[in-house]
Amino acid sequence: MSKKIGRNDPCWCKSGRKYKACHQAFDEKIARIAAAGHMVPDRSMIKTAEQIAAIKESAKINIAVLDYVAEHIRAGMDTEEINTMVFEKTTRMGGYPATLNYEGFPKSACTSVNNQVCHGIPSKDVILKEGDIVNVDISTNLNGFYSDSSRMFCIGEVSPEKKRLVEVAKECVNEGLKEVKPWGFLGDMGQAVHDYAFAHGYTVVREIGGHGVGLEFHEDPWVGYNSKRGTEMLMAPGMIFTIEPMVNMGRVEIYIDERNGWTAYTEDGKPSAQWEVQVLVTEAGYEIISY
Ligand code: MF3
Ligand code: CO
Repeated sequence: MSKKIGRNDPCWCKSGRKYKACHQAFDEKIARIAAAGHMVPDRSMIKTAEQIAAIKESAKINIAVLDYVAEHIRAGMDTEEINTMVFEKTTRMGGYPATLNYEGFPKSACTSVNNQVCHGIPSKDVILKEGDIVNVDISTNLNGFYSDSSRMFCIGEVSPEKKRLVEVAKECVNEGLKEVKPWGFLGDMGQAVHDYAFAHGYTVVREIGGHGVGLEFHEDPWVGYNSKRGTEMLMAPGMIFTIEPMVNMGRVEIYIDERNGWTAYTEDGKPSAQWEVQVLVTEAGYEIISY
């Protein structure tokens, strides 16, 4: 806990302004919403302008790496080659892949193909072929500031069913983004994502969600998509989190590969798609930090 700040003390956000002219009204508003029984962010989840600038520098690398993957990914390539591209591009730009050795994760990216839901481990044995859909999930540490986003890639001609899944998964993120605004709740975003997927006949994975990100790779809050409007944590300006729903063509159930302890698969073997954006809550709504 931090000490109580006087009205004329410098604001905790390091803006250089007095507390009363800076975050005092903000803190009081959050306290009122908490008193009404809602979950609210603590101060560590509210990024300062300086921190946001540093996180954006990290995200520049993250975006560039995904652009680089987009240019080079093709049928016949194994996912280990993607891993090598990611490591080299990230480190050449001065960053470091945040997944590498993170809680024992062995690689610089997650590459999840078809019925792999997420956390696919790059391997020489996984060769991309025409008709595959693959998620490449990238996260960057630059000077201790983190960015995280992922995209889907269609390899050559894919079936109309898979193509639609990939499109709708992206649209789900866009529907969620429309609900990102200060003084709303994460459940507003979660329900929008879920309802959109459901309306298209798809399901959204329950066990794995998004997360706060910036000063750590994974911070609070946890961000789910099976939540209801008006519930879950309050969104306040300065929060940064990911929206990354895993959308299944078939049933919602998943299981984890027990040989590696990481990779999630759909229980029914049908394809799954995921796009991930990193978003900042602003006074006006939101700003996409990484995509
Ligand atoms: N970028 C993924 C996420 O959204 C990565 C999980 S990282 C892993 O959090 F190392 F845990 F696989
Ligand atoms: Co993430």
